[in-house]
Amino acid sequence: MPKTLPNMKADQSDTESKLPVTDSFWTASDSEQIYRSQAWGQGYFSIHDDGHMYVHPMGIERVGIDLHQIIEGLSERGIQTPVLLRFTDIVDHRLQTLKSAFAQAIEENDYQGGYVAAYPIKVNQQHQVVEEVARYGHQLGYGLEVGSKPELLAVMAMTTDTPGQFIICNGFKDAQYIEAVILAHKLGRTIIPVVENIRELDLIIKFAEKHGVHPRIGVRVKLASAGSGRWATSVGIKSKFGLTITELLHAVQTLRDHDMLDSLELLHCHSGSQHQDISTIKSAITELVHVFTQLHETGAKLKYLDVGGGLGVDYQGSASDQASSMNYSLEEYASDVIYRIGSICTAKDIDHPTVVTECGRAMVAYSSVLVFNVLGSTGPSDLIDPDLVVHDDNPSAPQPLRDLRHALNALREGSQNLAEIYHDTTRARGDAMSLFSLGYLSLEHRAEVERLFWTVCSLIQSACLDMEEVHEPLAGIDDLMSETYFANFSLFQSLPDTWAIDQLFPIAPIHRLNEEPTKRAVLADITCDSDGKIDLFVSDTGHPEHTLNVHEIVDDQPYYFGVFLVGAYQETLGDLHNLFGDPHAVHIEIEDDEWSIREVVKGDTISEVLSYVQFEPDRLARSLEKECERAVKRKAMTVRESRILSEFYESGLNGYTYLNPEDKIS
Ligand SMILES: Cc1ncc(COP(=O)(O)O)c(C=O)c1O
Repeated sequence: MPKTLPNMKADQSDTESKLPVTDSFWTASDSEQIYRSQAWGQGYFSIHDDGHMYVHPMGIERVGIDLHQIIEGLSERGIQTPVLLRFTDIVDHRLQTLKSAFAQAIEENDYQGGYVAAYPIKVNQQHQVVEEVARYGHQLGYGLEVGSKPELLAVMAMTTDTPGQFIICNGFKDAQYIEAVILAHKLGRTIIPVVENIRELDLIIKFAEKHGVHPRIGVRVKLASAGSGRWATSVGIKSKFGLTITELLHAVQTLRDHDMLDSLELLHCHSGSQHQDISTIKSAITELVHVFTQLHETGAKLKYLDVGGGLGVDYQGSASDQASSMNYSLEEYASDVIYRIGSICTAKDIDHPTVVTECGRAMVAYSSVLVFNVLGSTGPSDLIDPDLVVHDDNPSAPQPLRDLRHALNALREGSQNLAEIYHDTTRARGDAMSLFSLGYLSLEHRAEVERLFWTVCSLIQSACLDMEEVHEPLAGIDDLMSETYFANFSLFQSLPDTWAIDQLFPIAPIHRLNEEPTKRAVLADITCDSDGKIDLFVSDTGHPEHTLNVHEIVDDQPYYFGVFLVGAYQETLGDLHNLFGDPHAVHIEIEDDEWSIREVVKGDTISEVLSYVQFEPDRLARSLEKECERAVKRKAMTVRESRILSEFYESGLNGYTYLNPEDKIS
């Protein structure tokens, strides 16, 4: 269970940067070209002249918070990275921005109905996040959306003081769930169960009659419009959710038979998450509005049109229709939704409904930043030797070795046949590996092959720097020469979508941004899983790249990266792979243009994650103690040694599951 620390006011004066002297020619705007915070950050993030990444929770024109300063301040308080920073003011700003975009669209399109949003809590169910959305959302007339019994129970308890805040209940429902919803009407709640299948409607009618409640009811329709991108199959005629048109007509008739047709207030669809292409949204909404208007003609006078979620987040900052991007703005989305609904309803002479959106990702993605430290690196640089001595061309040496020596000599003599030399080099290395596997290459020769290969490649890479354009086969030389930086976090716990669906998240150092990043690297996490690495990054080309620009690691100087826009879906989807638990989560808020730490939710301890998988930490500690006693008895260990080991074990159990940033791998 997470523990909380009391409120702490951040000390903003004693966290001076202890970084090395910076290169004067490299500026923050050079770093901006590479890391592109303005493209993906929506004004919430910027690279400052002091080389630090800043967060602007209320938009770029308002107060900026130095991320590095926060991390140093937390470190002084014993809160080590990895840490998840949550900016509740960003959540508020997003909710307000959504409201403003729809208000503008309503005005421009002379729309006669209203607009409200429902926050789907599955997107980020952390109590502090839902509480903030519920609190601030209530002021804006927003409600909450739940998709399961546990989510319903959480939201019902959370809205006891705000019974008017509407709750939309999606997802599959059993009798108990539906009876609870019907009874919630009696508590005065504005709660709308959305019928996902016909059986649910029968249960709603049964419990409404049993408890004498005239409920509000919604129906979800299975649209035929095709989706796009990763969630394309969650819509269309094969979608697992919603009623077919035949079932919808049956539902209307059933309600009419029970004299409950006026209970049917809301028509719902969800056309998939992270819409990358506005045209799929347009098609889905057009189809939905036609269903809506025709239902009206059958006598079902619905009041709400719920267009579901799906508003994208431009993680990539490329404003394109690639999977981690979107080719439209929030304003265009709002305008399209309102225009389509308004114009079709007007043409059919039907009152404009209140539009409901359930855009979760776009509400909360920006509000969280994961920060981790780098522990060390590995890569070809240790094997590159500019002064490598090339041995005489002895004809008895293995041919691949002779080829590599020849390649190095050619480059040193100024040969410009880079592509040819590169081909020869990769071929020679392949041949050398085959010889080794057949037992014909000694370890010494293999070591020389390694050094020659990487030295030749590094010379080719340097020569490529002078070229205007680098073509195949040399186009991948930077990736080949990249390093692996070991990062203190678990991909499976903190960025599960990176692993599961190749989701791109913007990543950048949070400091040293006025120093040139001279290397390229992939980021490997600390799980024992080769999938636990990030090798897809936002780039300035508009397409993802396999390596990231990074700074050289300076001994004894922490090096921190931020992974941005991680507020949606990552936390609850994360798992305990290798028993790395939840990282610390720190809530930061702005008051009078100053930031402070509202709450620290401590990450899992080792003892906690062990209990999640049914180990009993106390029992483990006792059994180790007994073993130590036995070792003392047979004089394999002194009493003092046994105490050191037992104390280490106990403090380990109470410690963080991640590595101590002071320890380095290399
Ligand atoms: C019914 C429903 N509403 C809303 C959402 C939220 O979608 P998004 O976060 O993409 O806006 C989802 C997510 O899949 C959903 O299934």
